Amino acid sequence: MSPQPRPGLREVDPYVSPQFDVAARLNTNECPHPLPQGFFDELAETVRQLPLHRYPDSQMTRLREDLAASVDHPVDGTWVANGSNEILTELLLAYGGPRRRAITFEPTYLLHSRLCWLTHTEHVALRLPSDFVLDGRAIETAAQTGADVVFVCSPNNPTGNTQPLEVVRTLVERLPDALIVVDEAYVEFGGRSALPLVSTHHNVAVVRTFSKAFALAGARLGYALVNPDVLGDLQRVRLPYHTSSLTQAAGIVALRHRPQAIAILDAVRIQRDRILAALRDVEGMTVYPSDANFVLFVPPGDAAALWRGLLDRGVLVRDMTSVVPNSLRVTAGAGAAVLWLNYSDDGELLVSGAEDGAVSLWDAGTLDLLGTVYPPTRGKPVPAGAQFIGDSHDVAIASYDGAVYRWETDLGQAIAFACQMAGRDLTQQEWEEFLPAQPYQSVCPGQSE
Ligand SMILES: Cc1ncc(COP(=O)(O)O)c(C=O)c1O
Repeated sequence: MSPQPRPGLREVDPYVSPQFDVAARLNTNECPHPLPQGFFDELAETVRQLPLHRYPDSQMTRLREDLAASVDHPVDGTWVANGSNEILTELLLAYGGPRRRAITFEPTYLLHSRLCWLTHTEHVALRLPSDFVLDGRAIETAAQTGADVVFVCSPNNPTGNTQPLEVVRTLVERLPDALIVVDEAYVEFGGRSALPLVSTHHNVAVVRTFSKAFALAGARLGYALVNPDVLGDLQRVRLPYHTSSLTQAAGIVALRHRPQAIAILDAVRIQRDRILAALRDVEGMTVYPSDANFVLFVPPGDAAALWRGLLDRGVLVRDMTSVVPNSLRVTAGAGAAVLWLNYSDDGELLVSGAEDGAVSLWDAGTLDLLGTVYPPTRGKPVPAGAQFIGDSHDVAIASYDGAVYRWETDLGQAIAFACQMAGRDLTQQEWEEFLPAQPYQSVCPGQSE
């Protein structure tokens, strides 16, 4: 005798995102940089005082109040759960379920369809047009199909584009009895939010997360911005005390460190734009525009071979060939060693930037390492804990104690700013020693450390 699971369960694979121990993990769209040390100190202090022998505040009052204020949305329409995945599950528990139907526009975030299955909601997959932008025809098809829930992912994972607000509005108005769930996991990296629609149309749920732009994937914190009636329905399906005191504390403290999170956001956006620009210059490369922290591209050669070649050299990107033919998705900046990966202007070189400021060049065809270039800070007494990360045109990026800061025009100032944010000023001597006196030095392979 053995217990029989739900029919079909054993045909479904557990959800796993393959992870390898590599120098550069550019495959899961995480934020590459943690919040500054000050956040962790404050969180530790807060946690020390938590009455963990008691159940948490089941209404998550303080967190919801702070969150509502930060996004300018009423508290009675602001709801929190363990990651936006749990929010999406709760929405389907409330608005999907047996004999109910949900639509996704593919290719999109895999979990939407998976959660339909989990909640016994019938799933209908419609296709996005070839440029991945929703249009009137796709909306009409959705209306003809009829649905209780419609997922719109904007910016869309894995394609990176935002759905125009007017198009989302048309969808919302064309299906007035369906809940339109706008998954905005990446909205802080660019694109327009559908939040203005929530106050005018009660059938819209905007879903966001602390996992990406807030650099808090490990805390598992997501939220919904909805109409109070929808929030009431979420209250009906939520598990008792679903968000722990620890999670709530992480959110409350993180919101106090919003300026630092925004600085990190800028660093990620710069790397994303670099990747976009460099990939676009490669002949034969198809690059999709991105408002997110990742870029989808179709290389001129075999994507699977490129994926393997990169992995052999310690760079893990996401193989998306099963979703968009011959495509790869690269996250902007991640991993301990390599922060970004670009093609050179002429497309003949792959360029990677490492956390210590080293820029490595690879032959784009053979993927052989050709050399490594170091910034002028190399070998100079950069203030302890501060590091050069990169610069582009008029913006410089530096880190201090693992947190990243940007500064307009001048790298030296970026370092100084990073130190200041960490409560430490540069001494005059450090300042003079640090400021770049010469252009990048080139170091051949073998000579590098
Ligand atoms: C579009 C989209 N929505 C939601 C999520 C899940 O986010 P969370 O970590 O908040 O559960 C992801 C994660 O990759 C995502 O890509």
